[in-house]
Parts: sequence; structure tokens; C-alpha cells
Amino acid sequence: MQWSCFFQSPRYLEITRKYHLVSPDLRPLICSYIGVKENMTVLDVGCGSGFFTRLVAENMTAGRVVGVDIDAVHIDAAKKIIGADGLTERIEFITADALALPFADDSFDLVTSQTFFNVVKGSEKLTVADVVK
Ligand SMILES: C[S@@+](CC[C@H](N)C(=O)[O-])C[C@H]1O[C@@H](n2cnc3c(N)ncnc32)[C@H](O)[C@@H]1O
Repeated sequence: MQWSCFFQSPRYLEITRKYHLVSPDLRPLICSYIGVKENMTVLDVGCGSGFFTRLVAENMTAGRVVGVDIDAVHIDAAKKIIGADGLTERIEFITADALALPFADDSFDLVTSQTFFNVVKGSEKLTVADVVK
């Protein structure tokens, strides 16, 4: 299933996320609440066009954030946006299936996701205990 084609295009994701998270005060608060700290290596799963991935990177002065999404259309859009914003040194976007991630265990200090666990295949069987330790 290509999410960008059937449900939400990169443009739709960018516009809706921008207005959900419009307050500049809210963004650092969210990052603090989810445990983003300086110099972390963070994975953002199901990143779409990368709005949340960028939000995390923008709230760290050092560190690295990797966004993965199964939909190459979203990943291409995400790469173009960070290219224009000059954020390519600290953010990387990779097309990959979250159910078969191409990373060794313990590669990341923190894993984030925004509105992903409710859409991923098999999510109807997930419980909170499966995704939060
Ligand atoms: C509702 S969108 C959220 C995008 C982004 N996190 C945001 O909030 O703007 C859900 C995203 O999950 C991605 N997705 C669904 N199943 C996936 C999987 N198995 N692996 C990686 N990404 C997946 C879709 O392609 C889509 O971009």
C-alpha cells in the first residue's frame, strides 16, 4: 500500500503537521516530553514527509536523526525538503519497512513515531505494552 497515493500526499502531511504544531513553544516541549536530548541518535519510524523528523533535529544542536518510511514518494519529498532547509548533515531519510529495519540492534538512543502505530500492518493486534517499555 502506497500511503502517499491512497491516503496522504507529502504536501497534505506537511500542511496538516504545520498547523497541528504551529506554536513555536510547543515543539521544544514535545521533544523534551518524549526524551530528546543533545547528541542523541534518533530513529523516526513511518516518517512520511519528515515533518516530525525535522522537528526533532531542530531541537538538538548536535546529534543525528534518521527517518524511515516504506513509501519512496514520501522519502523523496522528505529529502528535497531537508536539502532546501540545509539540514542534510544531521538528518538522513531511508526507504525501509519498519517491520524489517536495516539497522543493528541498539543503533539508536531513542525511537520516535507520529501517527504510525495506528496504520502499520498488524496494528489492530498491537497493545500499548507492545510499543512502550
Ligand atoms: C499517517 S502517516 C504519518 C507520517 C508522519 N509520521 C507524520 O506524522 O507526518 C503514516 C506513515 O507510515 C508509513 N508506513 C506505513 N507502514 C509502514 C511500514 N511498514 N514501514 C514504514 N513506514 C510505514 C506510511 O507510508 C506513512 O507515511
